[in-house]
Amino acid sequence: MNEKGTYYISTPIYYPSSNLHIGHTYCTVMADAMARFKRLQGYDVMFLTGTDEHGQKIQTKAIEKGVTPQEYVDEIVAGIKDLWATMEISYDDFIRTTEQRHISRVQALFMKMYEKGDIYKGEYEGLYCTPCESFWTESQLVDGKCPDCGRPVSKAKEEAYFFKMSKYADRLLEEFRENPDFLVPESRRNEMIAFVEQGMEDLCISRSSFDWGIPVPIDEKHVIYVWLDALSNYITALGWPDEPEKYNKYWPCDCHLVGKEIVRFHSLIWPAMLLSADLPLPKQVRGHGWLLLGGEKVSKSKAAKGQDVIDPVILIDRYGIDALKYFLLREYTFGQDGIFTNEVMLRRMNFDLANDLGNLLSRTVSMIQKYCGGVVPQAATRDAIDDELIALATSAATRVEEKMNEFQFNLALEEIWVVIRRANKYIDEKTPWVLAKDESKKAELDTVMRNLAECLRIVSILIVPFMHTTSDRMREQLGLTDVPAVWEDAFEFYKMEGCEAHKGAQLFPRLDIDKELEALYAISASMSK
Ligand code: MSP
Repeated sequence: MNEKGTYYISTPIYYPSSNLHIGHTYCTVMADAMARFKRLQGYDVMFLTGTDEHGQKIQTKAIEKGVTPQEYVDEIVAGIKDLWATMEISYDDFIRTTEQRHISRVQALFMKMYEKGDIYKGEYEGLYCTPCESFWTESQLVDGKCPDCGRPVSKAKEEAYFFKMSKYADRLLEEFRENPDFLVPESRRNEMIAFVEQGMEDLCISRSSFDWGIPVPIDEKHVIYVWLDALSNYITALGWPDEPEKYNKYWPCDCHLVGKEIVRFHSLIWPAMLLSADLPLPKQVRGHGWLLLGGEKVSKSKAAKGQDVIDPVILIDRYGIDALKYFLLREYTFGQDGIFTNEVMLRRMNFDLANDLGNLLSRTVSMIQKYCGGVVPQAATRDAIDDELIALATSAATRVEEKMNEFQFNLALEEIWVVIRRANKYIDEKTPWVLAKDESKKAELDTVMRNLAECLRIVSILIVPFMHTTSDRMREQLGLTDVPAVWEDAFEFYKMEGCEAHKGAQLFPRLDIDKELEALYAISASMSK
């Protein structure tokens, strides 16, 4: 095992019922940044994602399309995998709940809970739509009618297996009280405590009204109902129980990263299942907020122009992966909802990426070429302004680490941009073009060039978790192509003796925001036709 130890992070497994939008990619981009951050720091990382492929909804959609459920999910899952490849998501494993490795292990988990005496046969009562052969809960109904076909529903019962979740209520409360970090943010934790205190009901874990699912091992008329099937992916992917090497290495999970609406499943139902199976609980569940899509709808002028584009593939195609990832991680505060609009996105890309970072690199490299023949010079002088810049740059990694450990991606990036903006200001304060006119100021000019180059080198390390391609492109221009970006080097200054800077393409082109918005609205209008 490596020195730092292991770090296991998961995303939810997505429903392959339709293509993923920018809201889904938000969670995966955060998990990817964290996985890359921990790898950069030297952890042995396990980053798991996947797809949740069973259930009635998928079965119905497949029937509508005239294909088998397996064919239906295969196509969408291929698209999801393509999307993650396009976005360079660095997952270590992708689990599909239709894989044999998952199926047999879910059945093993069911048996373990059954043998413990925690599963019993009872009657599930719900609101049933006869033509659709579907059960619905009150909250799923639309105007009191079936959300699929709009016809009336009626109360109905079917035989089902239940998990005695209520048995674990006290243990769960104990966990919440003893371990305040088990569920963050705190608002969600308080919600969950209140939920358990109200009294937890047992959970229905099987269905017999459809068959697209994993058979209940003791009763083939039933399939295991979604949440037992889905949640167990976090251990089945690790090989539990029959190939436990990875399970022994990585479990308990360091962080289940999930959207706020599924916090309850992860912080109550999943732990109760694990307690029933005598398995350790995950170390942490973190609930993030939602991107509110179509935020522009409220504005009449925007509505007249068109809707926002929320398809990540289109956005990546136009602006690049790094710009999109940067925007998602910089704009939103973890745990809170945020409004997604194309306009806010474009402004961030222009101001932070093209102006602040792009300009700093291109100005610095041009000046090193112009004033120093392209070679990063020695810094022979040092004044208070230099001291301040150096102190800020070499301490940024500590602040980034603090924010990352709290999943405050936006604040971690802000810490990096404080350095970038300070370096831009340093250029204005030092006015190298004035120093260059005076031969006696050559040493001072060299210092300015060297300090700027070193700041950019540090930035190129700090941005690796968020924008690794941009980091590579920066390092190429700074003459660091063959030097790997190492986390520890971000704490040190003066590492660039003799590096040769080469001016390359602009990191991020400046966007004409009005023109871009028009183009995006036109795309979305043509897609909705
Ligand atoms: N299959 C279940 C999860 C099972 S995990 C054992 C599921 N799938 S989902 O595809 O509906 O949602 C997956 C995740 O995407 C959820 O965490 C959800 O919060 C997230 N998002 C879906 N739309 C979103 C936004 N608009 N914004 C942010 N996250 C969003 O639930």
